[in-house]
Amino acid sequence: MNRLDGKSALITGSARGIGRAFAKAYIAEGATVAIADIDFVRASDTAAELGPNAYPVLLDVTEQSSIDAAVRAVEEKTGGLDILINNAALFDLAPIVEITRASYDRLFAINVAGSLFMLQAAARSMISRGTGGKIINMASQAGRRGEALVGVYCATKAAIISLTQSAGLDLIKHGINVNAIAPGVVDGEHWDGVDALFARHENLAPGEKKKQVGAAVPFGRMGRAEDLTGMAIFLASPEADYIVAQTYNVDGGNWMS
Ligand SMILES: NC(=O)c1ccc[n+]([C@@H]2O[C@H](COP(=O)([O-])OP(=O)(O)OC[C@H]3O[C@@H](n4cnc5c(N)ncnc54)[C@H](O)[C@@H]3O)[C@@H](O)[C@H]2O)c1
Repeated sequence: MNRLDGKSALITGSARGIGRAFAKAYIAEGATVAIADIDFVRASDTAAELGPNAYPVLLDVTEQSSIDAAVRAVEEKTGGLDILINNAALFDLAPIVEITRASYDRLFAINVAGSLFMLQAAARSMISRGTGGKIINMASQAGRRGEALVGVYCATKAAIISLTQSAGLDLIKHGINVNAIAPGVVDGEHWDGVDALFARHENLAPGEKKKQVGAAVPFGRMGRAEDLTGMAIFLASPEADYIVAQTYNVDGGNWMS
């Protein structure tokens, strides 16, 4: 199918993991995708692997000049930005009494401020072109409720759900749909790191936390990045024109709302 034929997308943090899977799926649907990541070497490798409709863009979502340059690069390469996925994020884990300001500042700078100002730059570009657009934010089941050891990350993802609502309500008058996806537990390099952090804090064997969270999913296993691509394509397509400010759970049944 070619549900995104001729569309220009920028996906933050798409050098690996879920963002990479989104890029691959978008290209298969006819889009051209900027693989925008702070890891430019890996973004370049990923773009080369995904073929001529992918190209790497250096992006640090904590730097306004980098955000502006990335949007300009997409405009110059493709004539304009149609779709943004705010996907780059960082995870950390600590009991409340051990959370550091450095960890708090870093996670909020990337996960929240990074998403907000990336969204703002994309919206400005879309508004000036006058053809609308689609913005998808990556929330998480972690944004639906707190977790004892995951206070900061959960708070950043709750903020994403809230920002999706505000931006969705504000930007729909420009024909820009802002919605979010809330995954559950998705296996990959990100969760390798999460598993290692839980192993340390909960005194578990490596791999044990993954087994636990996978067994707890009603579907019966952890998610795979490819489990999320259908929703990401749908929300970027004209079929989602009437969907505004929503956050969709794609989590094998973990959360109901
Ligand atoms: N994996 C999961 O279980 C899971 C669950 C719920 C939500 N999510 C969300 O889905 C999204 C993708 O997750 P993932 O598992 O693919 O993560 P990941 O850690 O594998 O990938 C994140 C990417 O973001 C990039 N990045 C980091 N800092 C950046 C910065 N300052 N500027 C630009 N890029 C930067 C990294 O280089 C990396 O390529 C994130 O928003 C995450 O919070 C993931």
